[in-house]
Amino acid sequence: MTCRIHPSILSADFANLETELTRIHTADAVHVDVMDGHFVPNLTLGLPIVQRLAQVADLPLDVHLMIEDADRWAPGYAEAGAASVTFHAEASAAPVRLARELRAAGARASMALRPATPVEPYLDMLPELDMVLIMTVEPGFGGQSFLDVTLPKIRRARRAVDGTGLPIAIQVDGGISRDTIRRAADAGADVFVAGSAVYGAEDPAVAVDMLRNLAGA
Ligand code: DX5
Ligand code: ZN
Repeated sequence: MTCRIHPSILSADFANLETELTRIHTADAVHVDVMDGHFVPNLTLGLPIVQRLAQVADLPLDVHLMIEDADRWAPGYAEAGAASVTFHAEASAAPVRLARELRAAGARASMALRPATPVEPYLDMLPELDMVLIMTVEPGFGGQSFLDVTLPKIRRARRAVDGTGLPIAIQVDGGISRDTIRRAADAGADVFVAGSAVYGAEDPAVAVDMLRNLAGA
């Protein structure tokens, strides 16, 4: 399995985002956490900044929307040039329709599940998705500890994805580090978001390569 590392700029220097992108040149994409202060108790950045990042970034943008009313706002991020747009299942009234809209706008469609949200109700819609994000912390903040309780859900998602025969990625996000990435990979994840473990390192580009090696080992 090819393992991909998507550093989260939530842990980067928000005053120097363009420079911060160059520090992760070894990454496979850059993970952009959009939070609205309602779906999660934190507020980060929104569409105007994502539009600019899409213009200046060499890496594909992996946008993670932690916002309410995803049906209304998510397509705009696809139109802005995001390579993938992840909305939360808990924030969409019509996830199948939304996934189709994202694909029609040229993005990969992805759906996220909070730690307490089961994957089973959504298995039928897997063919509509390019990626499933299993949150491994409660969304909202960087620097939290990986929740081992999510491992069985990653395994169930992997079995279901393999059953479709489709190349659907399984992303994990939250608490991914040198100590935890192997566990998530063993459970079946193949795309790994890491914020503090990358930007907290002396050389983020080296940290990315190290994480990828550990995941694929
Ligand atoms: C949390 C965000 C994550 C966060 C991960 O709600 O979705 O992407 O940046 O940060 P770490 O890797 O520090 O847990
Ligand atoms: Zn995220």
